[in-house]
Amino acid sequence: MKVLDGKALAGTIKEELKLEVDTIRLAGGKIPHLAAVLVGEDPASQVYVRNKVRSCEKVGFKSTLIRRGADVTQTELLEIVDQLNKDPDVDGFIVQLPLPKHLDEDAINLAIDPKKDVDGFTPVNIGMMTLGLPAYLPATPNGIMTMLDRYGIETSGKEVVVLGRSNIVGTPMSILLSRKGNPGNATVTMCHSRTKDMEFHTRRADILVAAIGIPEMVTADMVKEGAVIIDVGINRVDDATRDRGYRLCGDVDYKGLESKVSAMTPVPGGVGPMTVVSLLMNTLKASKRASHA
Ligand code: GUN
Repeated sequence: MKVLDGKALAGTIKEELKLEVDTIRLAGGKIPHLAAVLVGEDPASQVYVRNKVRSCEKVGFKSTLIRRGADVTQTELLEIVDQLNKDPDVDGFIVQLPLPKHLDEDAINLAIDPKKDVDGFTPVNIGMMTLGLPAYLPATPNGIMTMLDRYGIETSGKEVVVLGRSNIVGTPMSILLSRKGNPGNATVTMCHSRTKDMEFHTRRADILVAAIGIPEMVTADMVKEGAVIIDVGINRVDDATRDRGYRLCGDVDYKGLESKVSAMTPVPGGVGPMTVVSLLMNTLKASKRASHA
């Protein structure tokens, strides 16, 4: 089985990005600037945002982290979004999800200027993506597309099964893989919590994308011999043998599938680092597009 090493691939792409930023700097151009808004104390979100900010530093981008407590009001958060929309130095920004329950995620998302929406979550970017027009693609699906491309995994004419229909992963993933293009041109089936016989579908998959958020739900009996497995899940499960009291695992039983599938992403070190790199690629694109001259 081939391990689809997202950490290594992300490292390679970061080197490429760094070279490009060095060239921009030498030419006296504008250094790409990503801002991230983090609300509350969600432990996973804190880790993700820290990784995003660190990765910016690694490739020579400027980054700004804006933190607010879980008690921030909708008005205050909309004001922050408005300021970031208007700030000429900020090329792109993200509001880390999930937000605390009292905040209206949709309203916040709608307030983000699509030109700075490097997460690719706003209706304009999702619409452009769906039409196959130039857009900021959502980071996780785009990271997976980059991974399939760089590892030379054929998707054309393949049966792809996507587990999960979230706006962030499942839905855009199914759109991108079924679109005309490379990677793309796949026959995509999307499964979700109301799917009657999930195993029936997963066993047919040449490529299985698991983004359902249930620890190790996909077991060896559910997959086809030689399938390619993309595990998007990052789940914390209790583990008393670890100092921190938990371990990270995906939506796939990695150990159980290892001897059956042809390629698989590990957790951690698979899709996660590719998500961060996609965000950096989008930020560089935004910086180049903005009329900073
Ligand atoms: N929460 C989980 N994934 C993401 C992501 O890609 N972007 C943002 N903003 N929040 C997330």
